[in-house]
Amino acid sequence: MPESGSRTLDETKIWHLPEARIYKARSGFREKLAVTRYKFGEIISGIVETRIEADDHRVLPEILSEVPGKKSLEWARRLSEVECRNTTYLGDDWPIFWKKAEGVNVWDVDGNRFLDMTSGFGVAGLGYGFTGDALREQSASLVHAMGDVHPARVKVELCEALSEITFEKWVGEKGKCLFGNSGFEAVEAALKTAVIATRRSGILSFEGGYHGLGYGALLGQGIDWFREPFEGQMAKVTQRLSFPRTEEELDKFTDELWKLDGLAIGAVLVEPIQGRGGIVVPPKGFLKILREWCDTVGAILIFDEIYTGFWRTGKMFACEWEGVVPDLICLGKALSGGFPISVCVGRAEVMDAWPPSEGEALHTSTFLGNPMGCAMAIEAIRRYREPRTESVVEAAATNLQEALAGLGTLNCVKEIRGRGLMMGVETDSGDRVLEAVKGLLRDGVIALPDGPIGDVVAMTPPLSISREEVEFAIRRLREHLG
Ligand SMILES: Cc1ncc(COP(=O)(O)O)c(C=O)c1O
Repeated sequence: MPESGSRTLDETKIWHLPEARIYKARSGFREKLAVTRYKFGEIISGIVETRIEADDHRVLPEILSEVPGKKSLEWARRLSEVECRNTTYLGDDWPIFWKKAEGVNVWDVDGNRFLDMTSGFGVAGLGYGFTGDALREQSASLVHAMGDVHPARVKVELCEALSEITFEKWVGEKGKCLFGNSGFEAVEAALKTAVIATRRSGILSFEGGYHGLGYGALLGQGIDWFREPFEGQMAKVTQRLSFPRTEEELDKFTDELWKLDGLAIGAVLVEPIQGRGGIVVPPKGFLKILREWCDTVGAILIFDEIYTGFWRTGKMFACEWEGVVPDLICLGKALSGGFPISVCVGRAEVMDAWPPSEGEALHTSTFLGNPMGCAMAIEAIRRYREPRTESVVEAAATNLQEALAGLGTLNCVKEIRGRGLMMGVETDSGDRVLEAVKGLLRDGVIALPDGPIGDVVAMTPPLSISREEVEFAIRRLREHLG
């Protein structure tokens, strides 16, 4: 009887083991192969990690039941009794309840495998689980620390990494960090920083802008219905301009901008590409104009890159397309690949407007700089900085854009727009988009409507999605839109 044991196998050998049972798990650009047996009867086990190209691995949906299946429907029934009814939309045809996720795939409680074209709200940058090992390792030793009193050392390491990939890279100066949990908290930290730095409470924001739903972040909200019920409790400090889409609109916008009373405004809060507002790309020059205006009037320029950050648009940060450096940048979502952690990183000069802590921080929270979030973010950044990331994202973006271009012939499609792997298909109606994303779900593709009236299908898949996966999803989208 051969001995069972464990040893590391090399990749070339594995592919030549005809009877080996190989279990594959993809996370980001890596593929883990667990091998349990091969033809000479010897039982071996081992794990190899190989690197994959964007195109060489295909995990298409596998639908085994009605969607939603019986188990999802039962979980929905239970949830309806105990969760605030405004939170999760529960219908006969939506949602599925997730059981596990790996790479570009999600499995639901009924055993169906889906292809996620949303990256889970843009979180699973290099696929689900790409920072899972870092989480497991960190959680074995330290799951919580006293973030602003006795911090974990990983908080320092994450600050250093964030500084390196932002202001040190852009202007050769340190960036300084202020952590939060959700994205909106990073925005609120930025808005507070602007007040501290300028002593002005005015905010300039944009129609269609989305910065999260905390009261502070709502000040910059550009989609009215998120804000209206709470208007009575909101300070009237915001001026809002339309977000330009064309050269012509940019000229009009520039005129309006220079007519504003700049001295009343401390913060300009903007997404370099609007996400929730319907994947809207402003014309070239827009960010530069904002930079010039802020420099002239002494306002703080805040880029909300919570959605666009970490290669979503084909560069590490969307502002790098125009080479414009903000005073503060807000990051979240793909920062950790799955742990609620966000950060406002700022130029040291601006951040140093905050007085040194004398024992009571003016802005902090219990879980600030949580070690598990920090460890995952450090690992995520390490992976984002790998030299090949850019070409992998570029290849995937080309595949997505080429596949989407084919939808241009449909009568209902008004515009296909976006950048990198942040793409949107604007159609003639929100109802059409809703029916399409429900149809996609039945086919095993997770997608979401976007835009203030939901008339845009957003396509923001994990950065390592393959051509076949993209083509599958877009083929199905075409059927449902057509
Ligand atoms: C650009 C942008 N800013 C802020 C947020 C808010 O982040 P969170 O939902 O994590 O609070 C989002 C969320 O979608 C976003 O897209």
